[in-house]
Amino acid sequence: MAGITNVGFRQLCREQGGGIYVCEMITTVALVERNPKTLRMIAFGADESPRSLQLYGTDPEITAAAVRIVVEKDLADHIDLNFGCPVPKVTRRGGGAALPWRRRLFARLVRAAVDAASPAGVPVTVKMRKGIDDDHLTYVEAGLAAQEAGVAAVALHGRTAAQRYSGTADWDAIATLKQALDVPVLGNGDIWEADDALRMVAHTGVDGVVIGRGCLGRPWLFADLEAAFEGRAVRRLPSLGEVAVTMRRHAELLVEQFTAGARNPARGERDGCTDFRKHVAWYLKGFPVGSELRRALAMIDSLAQLDDLLGKLDPIVPFPAEALGQPRGRTNSPGKVFLPDGWLASRDDDTVPEGAELADSGG
Ligand SMILES: Cc1cc2nc3c(=O)[nH]c(=O)nc-3n(C[C@H](O)[C@H](O)[C@H](O)COP(=O)(O)O)c2cc1C
Repeated sequence: MAGITNVGFRQLCREQGGGIYVCEMITTVALVERNPKTLRMIAFGADESPRSLQLYGTDPEITAAAVRIVVEKDLADHIDLNFGCPVPKVTRRGGGAALPWRRRLFARLVRAAVDAASPAGVPVTVKMRKGIDDDHLTYVEAGLAAQEAGVAAVALHGRTAAQRYSGTADWDAIATLKQALDVPVLGNGDIWEADDALRMVAHTGVDGVVIGRGCLGRPWLFADLEAAFEGRAVRRLPSLGEVAVTMRRHAELLVEQFTAGARNPARGERDGCTDFRKHVAWYLKGFPVGSELRRALAMIDSLAQLDDLLGKLDPIVPFPAEALGQPRGRTNSPGKVFLPDGWLASRDDDTVPEGAELADSGG
């Protein structure tokens, strides 16, 4: 997840349970142009395995060049291609969730990535949405094309681009894709608790699940998922004191991450704390914590400040049961999908859309 799954957050999650933790999205153009911010974002923990990298691209040749860099420089063990981005500035130019509609271009792009990665034995997976909107669904055709191109798995977010993050994910569509493909299918959408993952597997038959917003402020979800898939009934319901310990660990890992790359360690601590601020509301969702303390926590500059403020929380407050299963993070309303002129009328045109590459990573 862009802006979330950096080295520090991934380590926090890995400490909870097993899984493949994907880095923030990297754009192929920025990688090929050796953009310094992008190169810094491709960072993995010393013991991180597998190193999983997500690429965003719209041009088969640039994508192949980016994958060759990843492979030649041994930057990752797994590459995921992202075709789920619903942001208007991307779809308006034919990128992200708009791209699979152009079926020949999509197939060419996926094949280019697989062909560049396979000599090194690096598996490529694809993540996509159901389609542009309910009248323009692409997921089965795109899944079959990705399978034909040689991907190791296909992940489906059960929403269209028009839905953005609204409503509920369509798990029936995930079941349909699972039926249609031989390669493993991973289901994504609305897994807030470990039992949602079990329900998704039972409903769809998928080979695995992909977690997005469910881990925001709830990294222990991965411990619960591990328990659930191993058939254990235990679930974490951390008290406010235990949540505070997790918050401290998260902030400390971010400070480590930002300090490692900084010339000035004090700056690293401040940048790590700044990155942590966005997580505060997610951690505290549902807990009875006053607005002043919440606000102060969301403005910290140092770990000492964080310790001082966390010390003001009442550690014995139990986990708020009413917060279970509640959405966190983006929950915006559906919206029109902006597309290039003539996009819908020309499915077999495989011209590379112009300007649909994001210049910057993590957007
Ligand atoms: C803040 C945020 C950033 C995201 N960034 C990415 C991204 O970079 N790549 C991607 O494939 N999906 C990204 N997503 C989408 C999620 O991976 C996921 O597909 C979506 O949120 C639906 O799953 P969920 O219901 O479990 O959240 C992002 C979602 C959020 C909320």
